[in-house]
Amino acid sequence: SVATGRPSVLAVSEEALERAARVLRGGGLVAFPTETVYGLGADAANPSAVARIFAAKGRPADHPLIVHVASAATARDWAASFPESARALADAFWPGPLTMVLPRSERVPDAVTGGRPTVGLRVPDQPVARALLERFGGGVAAPSANRFGRVSPTTAAHVAADLGERVDLVVDGGPCAVGVESTIVEIDGDRLAVLRTGAVTADDIAAVTGLPVAATPTGPARAPGMLAAHYAPRARVVLAEAPEAAETVARWVEKGHQVAVLAEVLPADLPGEALPLAAVGSARDYARVLYQRLRDVDAAGADVVVAVPPAPVGIGLAVRDRLLRASRSH
Ligand code: TXA
Ligand code: MG
Repeated sequence: SVATGRPSVLAVSEEALERAARVLRGGGLVAFPTETVYGLGADAANPSAVARIFAAKGRPADHPLIVHVASAATARDWAASFPESARALADAFWPGPLTMVLPRSERVPDAVTGGRPTVGLRVPDQPVARALLERFGGGVAAPSANRFGRVSPTTAAHVAADLGERVDLVVDGGPCAVGVESTIVEIDGDRLAVLRTGAVTADDIAAVTGLPVAATPTGPARAPGMLAAHYAPRARVVLAEAPEAAETVARWVEKGHQVAVLAEVLPADLPGEALPLAAVGSARDYARVLYQRLRDVDAAGADVVVAVPPAPVGIGLAVRDRLLRASRSH
């Protein structure tokens, strides 16, 4: 293709899906929407295609990738064992924003797992992703479709801006409905541990499996590659609970900073110099627009964003987790 610096972005259509499946079969890279964030996909069974993902992202090769499949039945082919708890979680949450880390089957190349004995598996709940996976038939290894160290993309435009011509094709399926990455649960026999929190919470997983679930949502990075910088805009992220938000903004404004504000409800008495982003409304909406807003902060020229996290329940836990990581990265 001609080196224009921009990838082909195709609106979803039968033709676009056929072309995307063809690119995957040929060992190329296709960015596609999921309900969480856009993924940068390659044929999971083709090690040289998978290697291209790491090159395109600028990501260290030992960071394992999630294999996306069309159904739980297909997922079983990629796992060496699929315990009762995995079956229950698949029934309850697939298709959906849950990744299960299970012992890998022989089908999984080392390139996908960085040599680990386990593999992350997910059946996404997004019509374009599902249609593409069904048409392709195999497993699609896909990290979030951003350059290493940037926030995850939730629109096709984010992908194009980040990856440019490093990706062969971007299928545009509109903005992502969930907006934060999937929950990752590691299943080791009867031992379950949440490695990354998302729309599915540790409590949800415990309720479905009847097993205790170790939750390490904001602890040290257990899933390799879960570094704070992955969730940070260029601007410094400062957390403030609602009652002290206006005062926190005023303090950073007085120090001469360009300060943006991110909150479900904008605080009253904001200094006139603040750059208030539109209020997000609910925790669900906060998750949906989080990464777009973090990009907006940078685009607005702010060097500080004061973020008021949502309450620590449901998907609010995932938003708090990402904001906390972002706030620690400066
Ligand atoms: O929502 C999502 O999960 C999105 C969409 C595209 O599906 N994908 C995504 O991929 O966020 P990525 O690569 O940006 O993050 C995947 C995380 C990484 O932190 C990786 O270390 C972890 O999953 N992971 C993958 N396989 C693993 C394994 N076998 N053991 C432990 N962690 C694993
Ligand atoms: Mg990522």
